[in-house]
Amino acid sequence: MRKAMANTEVGDDVMRTDPTVIALEERTAGLFGKQAALFVPSGTMANLLAILAQTSAGDEILTHSESHIFYYEGGGYAAVAGCSIKFVDDADSPKPGIMTAASLGKAIRPSDVHFPTPKLFTIENTHNRGGGVVWPMDVLKETCTFAKEAGLCVHTDGARIWNAACALGVDLQSLAAHTDTISACLSKGLGCPVGSLLIGDQETIDIARHKRKMLGGGMRQAGVLAAAGLYALDHHLDRLGEDHARATKTASALAEMPMFDFDPAKVETNLVYAKLSEQAVEAVGDAFVWQDKLEAAGILCYAESVDTIRFVTHLDLDDAMIEEAIGRIGSL
Ligand SMILES: Cc1ncc(COP(=O)(O)O)c(C=O)c1O
Repeated sequence: MRKAMANTEVGDDVMRTDPTVIALEERTAGLFGKQAALFVPSGTMANLLAILAQTSAGDEILTHSESHIFYYEGGGYAAVAGCSIKFVDDADSPKPGIMTAASLGKAIRPSDVHFPTPKLFTIENTHNRGGGVVWPMDVLKETCTFAKEAGLCVHTDGARIWNAACALGVDLQSLAAHTDTISACLSKGLGCPVGSLLIGDQETIDIARHKRKMLGGGMRQAGVLAAAGLYALDHHLDRLGEDHARATKTASALAEMPMFDFDPAKVETNLVYAKLSEQAVEAVGDAFVWQDKLEAAGILCYAESVDTIRFVTHLDLDDAMIEEAIGRIGSL
């Protein structure tokens, strides 16, 4: 990947003369069956541009309370786009973070002078805080079709859309078919140092390109970064199943340990959300204390709440390292 980055041809992407960025954007748009794509520095910026391109200040976004857009993006939807958020719950859904048409229907308020205008519905696939779970295809189609019929634009936060496609055994086009825009990260499972894409129709991407400049996200010789993306699509896409298998193996091993108390069968992709047992919290401390303890043992992980730790499998880990990690965790 580093060699591909060093050897690629570059231009000035703000002036649309960087051939490598253009190649990455065209290739990605094709993979998702959309007209256009825009290369941006981060998933957060891709999501914010999707909001900016499809809403106006004062509009309402409908999404899940555990969505990355609401939870982890610094409130950009409000601070920069001037939108509010109304939550759609997952009470009647098969998995956390997955929203049915019925729950979306309950959240959409009628047109009324008192209410903000509902404009955008966003979903996350895979759903990070839901445990890396994948939207079932039938629910995806039904909920997004319902949103479109209700006059909403639909955006998919597809930071890990590649993992969703791998887990379901479907192509990226099917996952993008019921969404107007989709963001996809190169810097997670695909292993690039930097970069995400926003994908959609030409008009929306043209607006997003303008807003990207406004936000300071126009990069000049960005081909060095786009080359990493092209390399990852060639070499790292087809291997994601290995990460999923290693996550399943890790989850099964952790679930056997007295320090954890969770159902490993809920792991669907490369994220393992492992809930600590009461005993582990009483004996040592909450997930933040455990995160430090694990880090000291050479295991990097993330405390996602007081009692749950997220472990991620990725392309830099092989089977021997997973065995080693399981052994080290088990000995704590
Ligand atoms: C679901 C989801 N969306 C968006 C992002 C944002 O990506 P970035 O860190 O590149 O801004 C992340 C990052 O973890 C994520 O998990």
